[in-house]
Parts: sequence; C-alpha cells; structure tokens
Amino acid sequence: MATAQIADLSVFYIDQGEGAPVIFLHGMPLDHRMWRHQAAALAGRCRVLIPDLRGFGRTGGASDKTTMDQLADDVLALLDVLQITEPATICGLSMGGYLSLLLAKKAPERLRALILCDCRSQADVPEAAANRLTLADRVLTDGPRVIAESMLPRLFGSRTNEQNPMAVDQVRDVILAGSPRGIAAAQRGMAERPDLTASLGTIAVPTLVICGEEDAISPLAEMQFLAGQIPGAEFVPVPGAGHMAPLEQPDAVNAAVTSFLERHGIAS
Ligand code: MLT
Repeated sequence: MATAQIADLSVFYIDQGEGAPVIFLHGMPLDHRMWRHQAAALAGRCRVLIPDLRGFGRTGGASDKTTMDQLADDVLALLDVLQITEPATICGLSMGGYLSLLLAKKAPERLRALILCDCRSQADVPEAAANRLTLADRVLTDGPRVIAESMLPRLFGSRTNEQNPMAVDQVRDVILAGSPRGIAAAQRGMAERPDLTASLGTIAVPTLVICGEEDAISPLAEMQFLAGQIPGAEFVPVPGAGHMAPLEQPDAVNAAVTSFLERHGIAS
C-alpha cells in the first residue's frame, strides 16, 4: 500500500497496474479489501486505484461527521496528488456508490465511465436518517459490534450465508476492527446526503449498474430504476448475491466489469 498526503490527511491506497485509471470506492464500514477480487482480475489490464476512504481502514481523519461531499473532495484531491489529469473510471459500492454519483455531478469532467454497485440515488427517508444518528451514537459508546450486529444479517445473499461463511467472517472481522469514530462520522454524513435522482439524467459517460439479486439494502427494483434514469446505462443483476455482490460472486461481477471496460477501451 502507498500513502498520499492530502492537506492534513494521509490517505492509504492501492495503486497497481498501468494504463487508464479505474478507482474503486468501498462501502461503509469496509475498506480497500472488499475489492480484492476485482483488483486481481484487472491486474495488468488497467491502473487500479483503491483508497481507504477517510475514517476507514488505515486512513484516519474523521471528525464528527464525514459528508459525502468531503469524501468526494478527498477522491478528487487524491487524483490531483497522483497527477491523474485524464478522466478516470469510478466504481463505487453503496456508500462508495453515493460518492460516485456525487462525483458525477460535481466533477463530470474528471469521469470517463461509471460503475455503480449496490447503491441508490435517493436520500434517506427521515426514519432511516434518524436510525443512522442513533447507530452513530451507539457505535461511539459500544464499538463497531453495534454495526456488525445491525448490518451483517442484511449484507449477504442466502447462498453466501450458507455456502461461503468465510466471506462473511472476513467482513465481520473488518467491521469489528473498524474505527468507531470513522463509522459514526460516515453514518452522520450519509444521514444528510443529497438526493441525486434528479441529476441521473445528466450523466453522459458510459455507465454500468450492478446489483446482487438478493440485495436487502439497495433492492434490485431500486437499482433497476436507477439504471433506467441514466442515459444508455447497462444493468447487470447478479444471481446468488446480496449487497456485497463483488465479494459474493466475484466471477460474475468481474466478467461484467471487464467486458464493460474492454468495450469502452479502458482495459486492455
Ligand atoms: C454501505 O454498504 O456502504 C452501506 O450499506 C451504505 C448505507 O448504509 O446506506
């Protein structure tokens, strides 16, 4: 792993391969490791960049609230520090997807293509936002196990829970080792994230939308709707996966991602 200094923040990131840059943005409360299967599949075919976002993995820097705007600015600053001036492909899952959509709105000129996994464009309904604020307070007092208990039952599809307990255990370990401050701050930021549905129609880069068929957090119907709002977007449902499709069914997700990147001249 490498470190980039962005103002007072040290960002840890993976940087491997050469060619067109493809940046993977992880979900909450995970880190770069959730993309390990995609990094392996794309090695040697493009330049893979995977940061630990502010407050997650080995990147610190969380204050009381981490807004999606701040995370988007961190990603743009990382590109600047790495002197990546050509438009990049952004691939985000869930919180990383909220962030990808915000980047598409804030800095469309920095985007070559977009891959949205298991996320949505809508803001939280008031009840969901209130629940996040409660969870944020509880994580600070009781630790990340609060998040593990609330999220793990909804993260994976039934096939993964039954046939791949190791994947579930690995994610549990990542969550339990997470920073309570980072998790609480991101929950508070996501609670007030903007609704980006109205801007979907303005996305003008090739877009791939991927969704685990059993996703209980960003359900298939919502992602189908999202894909329908983005001009020309491709939609790929992933059987046998829940919210963590890239980890649960890496072969299917890698096939969709590499085909998309190849067809658009991004991966060789
Ligand atoms: C994630 O996977 O990033 C979270 O489920 C996002 C969320 O809580 O909305």
